[in-house]
Amino acid sequence: MKRSHGYRARSKSAPTRYFWLSLVVFSALVITSFVLFEQPIQAFLAQFALYLPSTPAQKLNLALLLVMLLALDVVLPVPSSLVALLAVATLGSVGGYLVIFIGLCLGAGFGYALGAGYLRVLSSRLGLHQRQPGQLAYRLGTLSLICLRGVPVLAETSVVAAGMQRYPLRPFLLVTTLANAGLALAYSAIGSLLVEQNALLVAILASMVLPVVFIAACSLFNSWRKRERRDTLHGRFEVSYDYPVVFTDHLFDPRNPCLRQQLTASHKGPATVLVFADEQLLQCAPRLAGEIVDYFAAHAPALHLQAAPIAVPAGELSKDGQVLQQLYADMLAHGLDRHCYVLALGGGAVLDAVGYACATFHRGMRLVRVPTTVLAQNDAGIGVKNGINAFEQKNLLGAFYPASAVINDFQLLTSLGHRDQIAGLAEAVKVALIKDQAFFQWMEQQADALARFDHPASRHAIHRCAELHLGHITGAGDPFERGNGRPLDYGHWAAHKLEKLSQHRLRHGEAVAVGMALDALYANAQGLLGDAESERVIGLLLRLGFNLCPPELALKDGQGRSRVLLGLEEFRQHLGGQLSIPMLCRIGASVDLHEIDAAVMEQALQRLSSRGALAVALGEGCAQ
Ligand SMILES: NC(=O)c1ccc[n+]([C@@H]2O[C@H](COP(=O)([O-])OP(=O)(O)OC[C@H]3O[C@@H](n4cnc5c(N)ncnc54)[C@H](O)[C@@H]3O)[C@@H](O)[C@H]2O)c1
Repeated sequence: MKRSHGYRARSKSAPTRYFWLSLVVFSALVITSFVLFEQPIQAFLAQFALYLPSTPAQKLNLALLLVMLLALDVVLPVPSSLVALLAVATLGSVGGYLVIFIGLCLGAGFGYALGAGYLRVLSSRLGLHQRQPGQLAYRLGTLSLICLRGVPVLAETSVVAAGMQRYPLRPFLLVTTLANAGLALAYSAIGSLLVEQNALLVAILASMVLPVVFIAACSLFNSWRKRERRDTLHGRFEVSYDYPVVFTDHLFDPRNPCLRQQLTASHKGPATVLVFADEQLLQCAPRLAGEIVDYFAAHAPALHLQAAPIAVPAGELSKDGQVLQQLYADMLAHGLDRHCYVLALGGGAVLDAVGYACATFHRGMRLVRVPTTVLAQNDAGIGVKNGINAFEQKNLLGAFYPASAVINDFQLLTSLGHRDQIAGLAEAVKVALIKDQAFFQWMEQQADALARFDHPASRHAIHRCAELHLGHITGAGDPFERGNGRPLDYGHWAAHKLEKLSQHRLRHGEAVAVGMALDALYANAQGLLGDAESERVIGLLLRLGFNLCPPELALKDGQGRSRVLLGLEEFRQHLGGQLSIPMLCRIGASVDLHEIDAAVMEQALQRLSSRGALAVALGEGCAQ
């Protein structure tokens, strides 16, 4: 049967009204009984003040009587403070403590039972309204239960109210037992001081007024906060990401199941895939496109290749608005939906661009990254950032969008030019410098092998670097870079500027190497990093073959200012206002600086120019 609107409205408001009504009635009853019977009960108790029990039996009887009085405090006008102090005065502090504690606990339990309606006859006689379990739970609040324990009248009212609200029993018992233990301790400690009538009255009044004032203030504050929140809806949810970074060899050998496994891991039915690959990669590894087609054919029907691999402009050229449009057009033309996969093959640049297209096309495509440069395998490919350059700013447009999987195939690096192989090691030096002193030492020991790109050493460097990067992204608590601190950006403020000034003649890794050397000299000038350590940083970079003195370092603007240093301001804007530059404080650790002394940085830049020029003259670093 349907109820009328009016009925529903009344029944919704009724519980709240009856709750407060019952509470007021009960409080009035307790107060009235105080007014009517306080004098006789006090006179009765006063006799006990003169009575000092001597035998154990007398003490036990007296203890039982006082416990009972405290327990019945809920329905009788017993001045519990007085009874408590009497217990201390007559039974000593330990005996008194036990009596008070037991009496208060029994009283609390009794009051709760009364309020909850377990003692039905008594409850209804006293006008208490029984609540449904869970309704208005915690309305009174745990804080009030604790604070009111020592307050005459309100102590009883609070436990009855807790029962009426069906405040969960276990927490109730825990809260009141702990509060009673504390209160009993306070009574027994100050009992001897308060047995005089006047002091007692003052104590009782203070114990009534102060908690009430405190609770009223809390309540006012809460209602003010509620009013503030009333116009705001809150949404909150969490999404967790889980993707593997797989190391393999000969990924497109049909006998290698790795790619099929990753494409079918979370997919029922055939996985439809569109492949985008760096143009230069396809040229330098001319058999690659055919191998990809053959691989998919060999793994049909689990895998379905939607079209032959599509070439994307090489390297940094791909991070461009027009290329992005072309990527969208290709995905649209090949009918990709959100369940299809995009396989991106290339260096950090192509992965950034294709990743951004995937993040935005259909609001998110499935993406598998196959990094094909050293830098992409140990850094760019395994992270969550994607983006393109726009308005002459690097990575101005982008998205944080993790791939479904990343697959590093060392064999794909063999078609890379030596310059790109070495450039990628800059990120390994970076992550070692900020996170892993032992890894840095290992790189120093292996510097010659790394400079030749010997395979065992290079493999280890890539693996460890990827591990450290991934560990930072997943473990440092800020994968989407909401905060300001970004240790992985060590050396990057200058690197971004140098890349731009060189119009991407400089590789990202090469620019990062210069940026790290510059910041090491700045940290040294500021006393953060010792002479020997800054020399080790520069020494390793030179031994790996980096040119630390590219011509862009010397560029000045119309007012004679270093153009590289203007990159600091751009970096500040990129970070959203507050500058945060990671600087080495030793090898293996960094700190964030929020102010950079331009004059000191200028000196560091000049020092690096002369140091780098000397190295080039001596044939230590290679010219780019
Ligand atoms: N998303 C991130 O977290 C992140 C991190 C670091 C760097 N990056 C970005 O990565 C880019 C730099 O990446 P990169 O150093 O890999 O450079 P890159 O992508 O520009 O590639 C360097 C050159 O190598 C070519 N190439 C790629 N793979 C090849 C292969 N196997 N054989 C032959 N040639 C190949 C490219 O065509 C290009 O000319 C920058 O745009 C940088 O901003 C992104």
